[in-house]
Amino acid sequence: MAEAASKTDSFSLAGRAALVTGAGTGIGRAIASALAAHGAFLGVHCNTSRTAADDTLKSIVDAGGRGIVLAADLSREEEAAQLVDRFLEAAGRIDVLVNNAGAPIARSKLEDCPTDLWRQAFEVNVFSAFYVTRRAVPALKASGHGSIINMLSLSVQTGGAGGAGPYAAAKGALQVMTRTLARELAPHVRVNSMMPGVIETPHHEKFSTPERMEQYRKETPLARNGSADEVADAALFLASDASRFMTGALLDVNGGRFLR
Ligand SMILES: NC(=O)c1ccc[n+]([C@@H]2O[C@H](COP(=O)([O-])OP(=O)(O)OC[C@H]3O[C@@H](n4cnc5c(N)ncnc54)[C@H](OP(=O)(O)O)[C@@H]3O)[C@@H](O)[C@H]2O)c1
Repeated sequence: MAEAASKTDSFSLAGRAALVTGAGTGIGRAIASALAAHGAFLGVHCNTSRTAADDTLKSIVDAGGRGIVLAADLSREEEAAQLVDRFLEAAGRIDVLVNNAGAPIARSKLEDCPTDLWRQAFEVNVFSAFYVTRRAVPALKASGHGSIINMLSLSVQTGGAGGAGPYAAAKGALQVMTRTLARELAPHVRVNSMMPGVIETPHHEKFSTPERMEQYRKETPLARNGSADEVADAALFLASDASRFMTGALLDVNGGRFLR
C-alpha cells in the first residue's frame, strides 16, 4: 500500500513553479492547467493572445490554483530573458520549463523559401526556446527537481510535407538541443521532448483545411485526432517525478500515426 501511495504522489507538483510558454491557447493552455491542477505555481506566458492567457489563469485560479500571466515575444532575446526574470521575481523558483511556443509562420517549399521565412521559423521555434532555457538554467539547477520539456512536431520525423519545411527544420534543431541539454544538464535537470501528432487546436484552424483534418483522422490508427488535454497528461508525466529516470527521451503522443 505504501508503495502504491508514493506512486500516486509522484505526479504531485506541490511547492514547485512551472513556466509554460504559449499558454494562452491550445496545447500550452492545457499543459498550464494540468500542471496547476497538480499543485504548481504557473507562469502563463503569451505573446499576442493576452486575453486568452488571462482566461487560462482565471480558469486555473477558479480551480484553486495560482499563477501569473507574462507577455513576451520570445523571438526577441531581451524579452525572452526578461520573461524568466519576471517569473522568478513572482515565483522565487523555476522547477519546470515547458518550451511550448511555436508555429509554422507560413507554408513554403524549401526551393522557394524566402530567407526571412526560414529565419523567422528558427527564431520562433528554436531561438525562443534557447533564449528562455539559457536564462532559466541556474534556477532549474537549483530546483532539485528541474525538468525541461520541448515541444516538437511529427514533421521532424516525416519531413515538412505541404510547405512545412522551415518549421520541420527548426523543430529538428530543437530536438538536437534537447539531446545536448539532457547530457549537459545531467544529473541536475532532466530534459525531454514531446512529439504530438495531429492535435485539434488553433494551430490547425490557421494552417489546415477541414478536409485535411478529416484526412488526418482517417490516417490515424486510433481513428481520430488528439486533444490538447491528451498532450497535457503526457506533459504532466514528464514534468513530474513520475518520469524521474527519463532524460533525453522523446515522447510520442500521436494516436499511432508514426510508429518507431
Ligand atoms: N496542434 C498540433 O497538431 C501540433 C502538433 C505538433 C506540435 N505542435 C506544437 O505545439 C505547440 C503549441 O501549438 P498549438 O497547437 O497549441 O497551437 P497554438 O494554439 O497556435 O499555439 C502556439 C503558441 O505559440 C505562441 N507563439 C507563437 N509565436 C510566438 C512568439 N514569437 N513569441 C512567443 N510566443 C509565440 C503563441 O502565443 P500567442 O498566441 O500569445 O501569440 C501560441 O500560444 C507549438 O510549438 C506547435 O508547433 C502542435
